[in-house]
Amino acid sequence: MKKITIVVSALLGMVAFSAQADVASAQKLADKYAGIAKTINPSFTGPSAEEGKVFFNREIGVKGKKVSCSSCHTTSPADNGKDVVTHKLIRPLSPVTNPKRFSDLDKVEEKFVQHCNDITGSDCTAQDKANFIAYLITVKEKTPKATSK
Ligand code: HEC
Repeated sequence: MKKITIVVSALLGMVAFSAQADVASAQKLADKYAGIAKTINPSFTGPSAEEGKVFFNREIGVKGKKVSCSSCHTTSPADNGKDVVTHKLIRPLSPVTNPKRFSDLDKVEEKFVQHCNDITGSDCTAQDKANFIAYLITVKEKTPKATSK
C-alpha cells in the first residue's frame, strides 16, 4: 500500500496547481485521479459524481458504530461540517463554497489516507478519490439555514 501511495503522489506531483485554488484545480485533480484509475482499471469510465455521492454517504461499521464521510462532513459537502469526535467545526468540503479545498495536494493526500483508513479501514483507490471530488464539485448550494443542522 505504501508503495502505491508514493507512486500516486509522484504522478499527482505533476499536476500544476495555481496559487488561486478554485473549482478548476479541483476538477484537474479529479481528472488526474481518474487517469490513474484508468491505468489500473481500463474499464473505469468515470469520474462519476453519482458514485462519489454513494461513497460519501455510505455507512461503514467502525468499532460497532456506523460512520460515513457525511458523519462529519454532513450530507451536503457545501455546508459546514462538525467533527463527530472533537466536535470542532469543519469548513465545507466542496470547492464551490470553499475555494481553499483541494489546493494543497499534500494536505489532500494526507486527509484521504487518514480518513479513508479511519472510515473504510483501507486506503481509498484513485477511482474513489476521482468520484469523490467529482461529486463535491456538483454540490454548489448551501442548505438553507432553516433545514441545516
Ligand atoms: C471524524 C470526522 C471525519 C470523518 C468521518 C471524515 N472526515 Fe474528512 N475531514 C475532517 C476534518 C476534521 C478535516 C480537516 C479540517 C479542515 O480542513 O477544515 C477533514 C478534511 C478532509 C479533506 C481535506 C480536503 C482539503 O483539501 O482540505 C479530505 C479530502 C477529506 N476530509 C476526505 C474525507 C473522506 C473521503 C471521508 C470518508 C471516507 C472523510 N473525510 C470522513 C473530519 C472527518
